Amino acid sequence: MRTPQLCLNFGLLATPGARLATTQAIKADAVQFVLMRQLPGLLILIAALAAQALARQPLHAKHAMVVSRETHATDAGIAILHSGGNAVDAAIAVAFSLSVTLPSAGNLGGGGFMLIRLANGTSTFLDFRERAPLSASRNMYLDPKTGRITGDSLVGYRASGVPGTVRGLDLAYTKFGTKPWKDLVQPAVTLATDGFPIGWGLAQALRSQANTDKLSRFPESKRIFLKDGAYYDFEENFRQPELARTLTRLRDLGAKDFYEGETARLLAADMAAHGGEITLEDLKQYKAIERQPLEGTYKGYGIITAPPPSSGGVGIIQMLGMLALTDYAKDGAGSASSLHYEAEVMRRYFADRAELLGDPDFTKLSVKGLTSPDYLRKRRDSIEPAKVTPSIQLKAGDPGPYESPETTHFSIVDAAGNAVSMTYTLNAGYGSGVTATGLGFLLNNEMDDFAADPGQPNLFGLIQGEANAIAPRKTPLSSMTPTIVTKDDKLYMVVGSPGGPTIINAVLEVILNVLDFGMNMQQAVDQPRIHHQWMPDTLSLENTVSPDTIALLRQFGHTVRPTASIAEVEAIRSFGDWLEGAPDGRVESAAKGY
Ligand code: GLY
Repeated sequence: MRTPQLCLNFGLLATPGARLATTQAIKADAVQFVLMRQLPGLLILIAALAAQALARQPLHAKHAMVVSRETHATDAGIAILHSGGNAVDAAIAVAFSLSVTLPSAGNLGGGGFMLIRLANGTSTFLDFRERAPLSASRNMYLDPKTGRITGDSLVGYRASGVPGTVRGLDLAYTKFGTKPWKDLVQPAVTLATDGFPIGWGLAQALRSQANTDKLSRFPESKRIFLKDGAYYDFEENFRQPELARTLTRLRDLGAKDFYEGETARLLAADMAAHGGEITLEDLKQYKAIERQPLEGTYKGYGIITAPPPSSGGVGIIQMLGMLALTDYAKDGAGSASSLHYEAEVMRRYFADRAELLGDPDFTKLSVKGLTSPDYLRKRRDSIEPAKVTPSIQLKAGDPGPYESPETTHFSIVDAAGNAVSMTYTLNAGYGSGVTATGLGFLLNNEMDDFAADPGQPNLFGLIQGEANAIAPRKTPLSSMTPTIVTKDDKLYMVVGSPGGPTIINAVLEVILNVLDFGMNMQQAVDQPRIHHQWMPDTLSLENTVSPDTIALLRQFGHTVRPTASIAEVEAIRSFGDWLEGAPDGRVESAAKGY
């Protein structure tokens, strides 16, 4: 018997025999006719209702919040906050926990940046990025015969810069920590010793061809992360006894063990045995650096962000500065015209990045020039409303006189209003693929963030110049962009992301979604993203961007490249009396608060 539900089956009802068969069928046809005429409007209504029903709300909490990429790490941070620790204490616990539960990016063998804004309004930036070893040289990744890039900066023992994470967390603790150090490392020791149930994402990632290929090349990595080829199942308990021993030494002896003690000796010996570059002296000399954060404003909001050797903060200030001189938002979020303007400012910033940014301790940079209103007006004036500027016609600008694909981010706000925005990384997922023998942690392949051959693209397709050429002790240019937004001098938003160069654009887009398009924190994180990095001259768009928007962008001249997912933002907004936590649903992130 036909019922109104059958009206959804237009194919069946359209056959002439069925149409004349019964009175019910005729009634059903009438319903169908009405529905067909009203269909476009109805579909839009249904889509809007479904979108509302499906839209996730941010997690609300009154006092404190942790948003990270992994649930056990978030739990560790919340437990520290609950027990009276501050946001920096919690950040240290989260970072060490992620080194156990998120081996693709959480790390002891990598580096990163921590942006801290205290409740009293002061802020600081800790740079614990990897540095080039003392033996490094400009052409170390070029084949002497062919002059071509060898690939050693990506996989294997020669790919690693001197790790900075442990020194960075130690510096954060020395300056701001309040709980006993042991309490902050203990959650990670427990997770590594007792194990934790492997999440869906991690189980799948470890089985992927690319990760299997890389990790299988190194017996220690194959044994620990691939179970010698048998693989871990979803929810199988994952114990890491070697890492537990390393973390136990860290807990009991502090960062000194990592840079001068047993851990340092084992790491340097493993490097020497496999043709790696990092020596005991490199480890001993490693220093984390406290820097002044980069600051700017956008439409009355304060922007506190990452200074060089991150390229990201300059990008955020530049792109917001150019957009402030347009009415790019007038057609609404996700409109072709707003995405076009966003893509054009991205293109201009990345053209500058390619030539003009590097380690400020080695290269003269023009951060003031690159972010000055006069310069940004000139750059903005070259943007046409509905027409691309082909990247080939666009070089780095002249900013005036000189002064000087896997990562993870978490955001924390404590009950006193202190905030931490921290991004750290091994560079590519699972770094160089090498697990330090007997130590249980993966090493970074951050040397690939240098320009191995200035002018040639790196892992992320980024073209970079002499400013980012390799030199001993130098820091490779980064895209990591931990950022904090203030409103009326009060904390407003804590935001950041992994994703190589897509980090900078994702942070920009999330800020715009809140400040210009009125979204709450979760909507802003969930909104489809785009990415343009000057070269290659393609506009990447998440698959959720609508086809008619894509068609318009093509008309404007963009070469579009649909892609499954761009970046992973973990963010918190302080809104009224509440904190809004927004984990990124593109991955298994976790927000918790109280
Ligand atoms: N390793 C990615 C970045 O720092 O940009």
